[in-house]
Amino acid sequence: MCLSFLTRMSSIILKCFVFSMKGKSYQSSSPSTKPILSSPSGSSVPRGALETIGRLMKLGRVRNIVVVAGAGISTGSGIPDFRTPGTGLYANLAKYDIPYPEAIFNIDYFSDNPHPFFSLAKELYPGHHRPNYVHYFIRMLHQKGLLLRMYTQNIDGLEKLCGIPDDKLVEAHGSFATAACHLCYTPYPAEEAKQAIMKGNVPICTFCAGAVKPNVVFFGEDLPEKYFQHAEDFPKADLLMIMGTSLKIEPFASLVNTVKSTVPRLLLNRDPVGPFERRPLRRADYMELGDLSDSVRKLAEILGWHTEIQDLMNSHENGLPVMNKQ
Ligand code: OAD
Repeated sequence: MCLSFLTRMSSIILKCFVFSMKGKSYQSSSPSTKPILSSPSGSSVPRGALETIGRLMKLGRVRNIVVVAGAGISTGSGIPDFRTPGTGLYANLAKYDIPYPEAIFNIDYFSDNPHPFFSLAKELYPGHHRPNYVHYFIRMLHQKGLLLRMYTQNIDGLEKLCGIPDDKLVEAHGSFATAACHLCYTPYPAEEAKQAIMKGNVPICTFCAGAVKPNVVFFGEDLPEKYFQHAEDFPKADLLMIMGTSLKIEPFASLVNTVKSTVPRLLLNRDPVGPFERRPLRRADYMELGDLSDSVRKLAEILGWHTEIQDLMNSHENGLPVMNKQ
């Protein structure tokens, strides 16, 4: 009992030490009270969330990483997220004259009036943005054999564009790559749907005359079948990385609660979200608050991957079609 009490206490103390505060500072800024974790050699070194996770990875303690991502991973590519006040998409929809911001992605609203979504879709169609360092970091996880799966809510296609293979990727909110009738789900050629939308026309289903839309998931629609792979993936995860999401939208948000309670969860985001808003944090929870590109770069440096990621990014970007360049 004594041993288990001590183990529990040391884990609580460790948790307090590795919890880093906004702006990437530790709980205390005084050097004498900086969080300290004893290294195996016995020397004491200050560690934050990134150092702790980086150390686990370097020690080979992590082999099945699940990444859960949202719009925040693409702001570095120039794509606004949804909910950041002022700059987020939902704060900038006045011109569409819709009753409330999320109506633009509501299937019943679309059924009644598809025009606001189609106007927005002209801007959302992939092709104008490039993946950024964060995308390539995730691809590097794959190249190192560490990525079990990436679950993304994004519909910008940048995960695929940076080379994360299909079998490693779950686009939980769909994509523009395919299209179908929103009423009878009859498939429709995606390129034809895009051409019609770009010209300001509504693509019409040849079977039931309903409006065709790209297969991005709207509020009120089912998630793609691939999403349900989570039931197998999350229990297998030995590290969960949560990046650039407000964790506001279900059922996706609750995925983060389906890893074992002992599995480390690392949140990289500007603000604490979801279960990371609660205090105290769960024993195995770590977060690094601030700009995602900075945090990911720091983690890459800790892992000794930074140059490799830059080289990968440069060589891959050079191979992408020039017309796609921003
Ligand atoms: P949100 O806009 O709700 O959340 C993005 C999160 O990323 C916020 O917490 C931001 O603070 C953070 N963030 C943005 N840029 C960042 C940066 N450079 N560094 C660090 N953090 C940053 O976007 P999602 O969570 O992806 O669904 O939204 C989820 C779903 O809501 C979307 O897939 C979409 C939307 O309605 C549908 O359309 C069905």
